[in-house]
Amino acid sequence: MILRELLPAGRQLLEEKFQVTSLGLDADRSQMKAAAAGADGLVTDLTFAVDDELLGAAGPQLKVVANFGVGYDNVDLAACAARGVTVTNTPGALTNATAELALALAMAAARDLPAAEKDLREGAWQGWDPRRWRGFELSGASIGVVGAGRIGGRFMELVAGFGGERLYTSRQPKPDLENRLGAERVELDELLARSDLISLHLPGSRESRHLIDERALRLMKRTAVLVNTGRGTLVDSAALIRALKEDRIGAAGLDVYEGEPDFDPGFLTAPRVALAPHIGSATYRSRDEMSRLVAANVIAVLEGREPPNPVPGV
Ligand code: GLV
Repeated sequence: MILRELLPAGRQLLEEKFQVTSLGLDADRSQMKAAAAGADGLVTDLTFAVDDELLGAAGPQLKVVANFGVGYDNVDLAACAARGVTVTNTPGALTNATAELALALAMAAARDLPAAEKDLREGAWQGWDPRRWRGFELSGASIGVVGAGRIGGRFMELVAGFGGERLYTSRQPKPDLENRLGAERVELDELLARSDLISLHLPGSRESRHLIDERALRLMKRTAVLVNTGRGTLVDSAALIRALKEDRIGAAGLDVYEGEPDFDPGFLTAPRVALAPHIGSATYRSRDEMSRLVAANVIAVLEGREPPNPVPGV
């Protein structure tokens, strides 16, 4: 029932109650379909599509798809709903980890840390130079959070110490962020134009695809730092690479990519980028807690109870 891998913190909870089969990280699609056959629950993750074909291969007894992650753009919710399959995710567990990585990428990109370290490692360092490696300071910067949900809100808390203005976009106003952190809700275009640092915290969806495109990039300041720890699809990679190469924006920090684990190789030669391989939730605490949540969701559904983290609308 585990189509790739669940960490022991969650797997043990499942094994106490159910027969658990796990395919490992290299499982291919046909192995997944074969292993899903007859399962009551599937543990899935963002690396593969949970579509009608996979649900059909599992069979009509399937009751729950527990996605190991907060995002569920890999899951066809309509197909699950049509088959009466509950979908769950792991919100909350990775909020701190992901917000902290966004901050790490923001600071690394703003100071071009990866390139500076590369210079040092390659023996190219010629000594202290007053002109070289000048980057952007975040103290006093206007910071824009696109999608002020759990992770975006936590990111805003973390950057509050920089002391500049804080802007956000959100479908709903966030009185807590406004009262506690002095945040101001604005339209996306205004946020892009006013912010020195822009951090994306939206889920991947058809509506959010290429939210940051050529037009959006041209609205940003030439010194703006763009950070994406949400989904690769939020950003038009080719447009971002062009903007970096043409010095139209300041820097970018990325943890997620269109088509990952593939990514546009242009990022490797673009200046002022900090790149991470989708590790937003990768802390010991977060990944263990996510694993436990996956198990708690599966157990609840298979024991006929409401799961702690049902995905809305299924
Ligand atoms: C990771 O990207 C997640 O959605 O949890």
